[in-house]
Amino acid sequence: MTDLAERRGVETAVYQPAEDSHLLAEVVAGEIYADELVLEVGTGSGYVAEHVADETAARVLGSDVNPHACERARERGVEAVRANLVAPFQDAVFDAVLFNPPYLPTDPDVERDDWMECALSGGESGREVIDPFLDSVGRVLAPDGRVFILVSSLSGVEEVVARASENGFGAVALRDESFPFETLSVLMLVR
Ligand SMILES: C[S@@+](CC[C@H](N)C(=O)[O-])C[C@H]1O[C@@H](n2cnc3c(N)ncnc32)[C@H](O)[C@@H]1O
Repeated sequence: MTDLAERRGVETAVYQPAEDSHLLAEVVAGEIYADELVLEVGTGSGYVAEHVADETAARVLGSDVNPHACERARERGVEAVRANLVAPFQDAVFDAVLFNPPYLPTDPDVERDDWMECALSGGESGREVIDPFLDSVGRVLAPDGRVFILVSSLSGVEEVVARASENGFGAVALRDESFPFETLSVLMLVR
């Protein structure tokens, strides 16, 4: 494969910023302080992390399970670590954790096995990545830390709020935006 072809293959393997990315980036940029340490889980192209860092002067790290995404994010200047959710990070270190998760409910019979599937598919419920994230994110949050998560009506906002509550978080909806097939919400979760 030539360099160009390799590069094309990689581009189709990394989620490119869309309405959900822009909504999360814009809302979160108004909520973060310059002296905070922030983690964006599932950073993809690094767009959200870069925007929040540029707008707030906070240090924003990125993580992604997709190695091609980590490369793209690093090209934007984001310190990116290949990771499954928050697994490799120390306890109680982040003032804020952001996540625009894969959330589309997907029929297991038509699932593809590639990086774009990993970026989009939330399994049958739409919450198969969101639930373990909510179960694990509290460990890496500083005592007054906040979580900012993008949620779609397609994967069930009430169910996400209920799972967050089981993990000791209260939820505040910071912004809702309606699109033809879904409503996107940015939730802030606090303990
Ligand atoms: C909807 S895309 C969002 C990308 C980017 N944050 C944005 O808003 O444009 C979801 C991202 O989560 C990543 N992801 C999926 N499962 C993950 C996991 N278990 N741990 C870390 N990242 C994951 C995907 O590779 C993908 O980059």
